Amino acid sequence: LMPRDLQGEHILVTAGPTEEPLDPVRFITNRSSGKMGLAICKRAQIRGAEVTLISGPLKAEPPNGIRHIRIRTALEMRDRVLEEFPRASAVIKAAAVADFRPASLERDKIKKDGMEPTIVLTKNPDILAELGRTKRPDQILVGFAAETRDVLENGRSKLKNKNLDMLVLNDVSKPGAGFDCDTNIVRFLFRSGEEEQMDIMSKEKVADLILDRVIRLRSKTE
Ligand code: PMT
Repeated sequence: LMPRDLQGEHILVTAGPTEEPLDPVRFITNRSSGKMGLAICKRAQIRGAEVTLISGPLKAEPPNGIRHIRIRTALEMRDRVLEEFPRASAVIKAAAVADFRPASLERDKIKKDGMEPTIVLTKNPDILAELGRTKRPDQILVGFAAETRDVLENGRSKLKNKNLDMLVLNDVSKPGAGFDCDTNIVRFLFRSGEEEQMDIMSKEKVADLILDRVIRLRSKTE
């Protein structure tokens, strides 16, 4: 029987993609299904945590009994995450937030007659980096990194630049890892410099291992 070892913790989880609209009927998005973030919510809830999920459109239903805040765009996610952040003892950011959004939102549907349109993109704010700048010492900040090349170097620099306690690195070019599958292959990177490589396993098992590490990190802040 799994102990309720997260009792008293309030875990804020982000999951899924964001959608960045171009016009009233079109948007730019990515392949995130939300499965990784939902697995974290499910395991955290079973282990006794109070769970708040902030997510884009998901391909599966969140577990009953968690608080679910639905958003569409990265800007909306940012507003809601910053609002919820002070109440959280740990934040786990599994969402695939769009790095860019169309610079302008057309009021009417873009028509196909006339010139071929050019899409101009502008940068979205980095929500995780913002949390890293404002977090309290008792709050544990866990980020993800989805990389396809220079995986380890990019992961290590994200851990440092975003001031994270822990980073879950997935090489999303590997079969059985990353977007829209039931398994993942991850490496944990810690602020301390410690690293742990995991074999392929279910996203639920990955979720439990992340939560074990969160408990350990939290115990060091008290
Ligand atoms: O949803 P699934 O289909 O189950 O797939 C899981 C997953 C591959 C989406 C997940 O395991 C994962 O890696 N999530 C992070 C994807 C991502 O956007 O990685 P990134 O390296 O671009 O971003 C790094 C971190 O910064 C992430 O924690 C992200 O939430 C955060 N971020 C990124 C951009 C931004 N503007 N704001 C952010 O907060």
